[in-house]
Amino acid sequence: MLDPKARVIMISGANRGIGLAIARCLHFKGYTLSLGVRDPAKLDGVFADAHATTLSIHHYDAEVPETGTRWIQDTVSQNGRLDGLVNNAGMYKTVTLQGEAGKDDEPDLDALWSVNVKGPLYLTRAAFPHLKASKQGRVINIASLSGKRVVGNSLGYGLTKFAVMGLTHQIRHDGWEHGIRASAVCPSFVSSDMATGITDMDTAEMTQPEDIAELVATLIALPNTAAVPEITVNWRNEGIY
Ligand SMILES: NC(=O)c1ccc[n+]([C@@H]2O[C@H](COP(=O)([O-])OP(=O)(O)OC[C@H]3O[C@@H](n4cnc5c(N)ncnc54)[C@H](OP(=O)(O)O)[C@@H]3O)[C@@H](O)[C@H]2O)c1
Repeated sequence: MLDPKARVIMISGANRGIGLAIARCLHFKGYTLSLGVRDPAKLDGVFADAHATTLSIHHYDAEVPETGTRWIQDTVSQNGRLDGLVNNAGMYKTVTLQGEAGKDDEPDLDALWSVNVKGPLYLTRAAFPHLKASKQGRVINIASLSGKRVVGNSLGYGLTKFAVMGLTHQIRHDGWEHGIRASAVCPSFVSSDMATGITDMDTAEMTQPEDIAELVATLIALPNTAAVPEITVNWRNEGIY
């Protein structure tokens, strides 16, 4: 396993839900963290025990790509290196195949694409030279089982998560010889604001954010010789997933 103390990891959307759980978990394990969030004030006091040299909070809005470029530049200039990027920030909007009478769903499709696909793509592109320099760079994309199979009626979200799977495999392909390993984490429902906005199923029954965080921590710690392209995670029996 790689030593957390020597590694700098960026996490997008780290102020709540799965992203916050990943940040707490990696902070506990001793990584140096750079958190990218739309509103840094939302993390006021949350990491009160952290030293400024091991945790920094930055403005990042996936719909404003310059904020991602600046976040990466600031992270590297503060820490001198970058070893991992967790593309967690994401959004859900309902866009169905047959559409909704009288509704123009183009703005929702564009927003989904900007946040869920272009966000991770642009961050990874800007991070790539630094991850290469690390020789043990990691990109963890929080995808979804909605990027692996189709259930229900969420075409718009599903399209973006299938795209994230393609992005993950492209990163894995292009980064391999430079020691970069890319993984897609593909859960079904995880107890978070996103899930409660979609379903009224009992959140206590769902996968918990802390469990996804442990998986991410393992993926980041594994050596180059133990690459894991995809992990599927479920709280209910869905055949092979
Ligand atoms: N919950 C599930 O059931 C589930 C299942 C599979 C995969 N996922 C994926 O897991 C990831 C995290 O989701 P979650 O469940 O933790 O959802 P969540 O509780 O709704 O949190 C979403 C996070 O993404 C951030 N975000 C949204 N739009 C953004 C933007 N334009 N720029 C930067 N950050 C933005 C949010 O920031 P604000 O607080 O500023 O809005 C928040 O930090 C997502 O990629 C999601 O698709 C979730």
